[in-house]
Amino acid sequence: MISELIIPQEKLETGFVHWQSPSNIAIIKYWGKHGQQLPQNPSLSFTLQNALTETKLSYAPKEGPSTGIELDFWFEEQRNEAFGAKVAAYLTELIPTYPFLEQLSLKIETVNSFPHSAGIASSASSMSALALCLCSLEDHFFGTLGDDTAFDRKASHLARLGSGSASRSIYAGASVWGKTDFVENSSDLYAVSVAERLHPIFTTLHDDILIVSAKEKAVSSRAGHALMNENPYAPTRYAQANQRLGTLLKALEAGDLEKFGEITENEALTLHGLMMTSHPSYLLMEPQTISIIRAIRQYRAETKIPVFFTLDAGPNVHMLYPEEHIADVRGFVHNELAGLLDEGIYIPDFVGEGPEEV
Ligand code: DP6
Repeated sequence: MISELIIPQEKLETGFVHWQSPSNIAIIKYWGKHGQQLPQNPSLSFTLQNALTETKLSYAPKEGPSTGIELDFWFEEQRNEAFGAKVAAYLTELIPTYPFLEQLSLKIETVNSFPHSAGIASSASSMSALALCLCSLEDHFFGTLGDDTAFDRKASHLARLGSGSASRSIYAGASVWGKTDFVENSSDLYAVSVAERLHPIFTTLHDDILIVSAKEKAVSSRAGHALMNENPYAPTRYAQANQRLGTLLKALEAGDLEKFGEITENEALTLHGLMMTSHPSYLLMEPQTISIIRAIRQYRAETKIPVFFTLDAGPNVHMLYPEEHIADVRGFVHNELAGLLDEGIYIPDFVGEGPEEV
């Protein structure tokens, strides 16, 4: 692809762009992909508020003529060669779209709001924060992304190329990534907002992230997605996710917590069921994961408080509940769940406002 995004010599200058961007929690899960980071089924997530990455991208004209990406990468105030190499590879792939990246010497400084040791996935927040910085850079030099929708779609598109789930973190409230008849303008290339379709009860939904294990997971998401290509249940799963998205959107619009909870929990267990039925099969849940799931279901049955669980590709449990029940649910965590958590850690979060330019 020929791109015109080359900075004229007289406009080359020093500066920086700076964004913070949150993580998200999927209700309909993205699991399985094809081509260049394209999803096998549409997914829907809530954007979180507290679990976020802050990324500052500084740039200066390169000292001499050279090709390729010149990058100095810092994570949590330390130079990090391993992360730097991954980000440089991502930026190198973007050169056909963004040839100006080869004209600049780049420095990236990034920090997470949540403890590194908590074992929560940071690819959604980190890749969305970086993608937003790149879009700010494009707009600064070329003025091509003045329109908010165009800016968000481009950021979501670039985030997707880094990590699929990151495409959804660009928007406040909730978003859908993947083509579906249930959402106008939906696309496999970028996510779109569905925040305006949320009943008020979901706009303030809480997500307490219960940390069961902070260890790095045995099978990466990337490897897990790849195993879906051979999973015998994959076609049925993709059809199920497509159809469920419509049912979920109706529940989100109506404020139907019961339907929401039924789909949410089944999606989490389906995701892990797909892992268990892959070849080779694998388990990411720990005994405490199951104990917490059972405790949540029992607590819900006894109290009638609408509290539900979901899982990412790991052992930690996301506990979702409406704002009005916060005091009761916090008591439940302290009295009944604390002993099941890694060093008693949980990260209180809730549906948030989306990324912010710092
Ligand atoms: C289980 O977005 O981490 O969290 O595109 O390979 O980076 P890559 O995968 P990733 O997969 C996330 C999977 C999930 C479900 C979801 O967030 O939809």
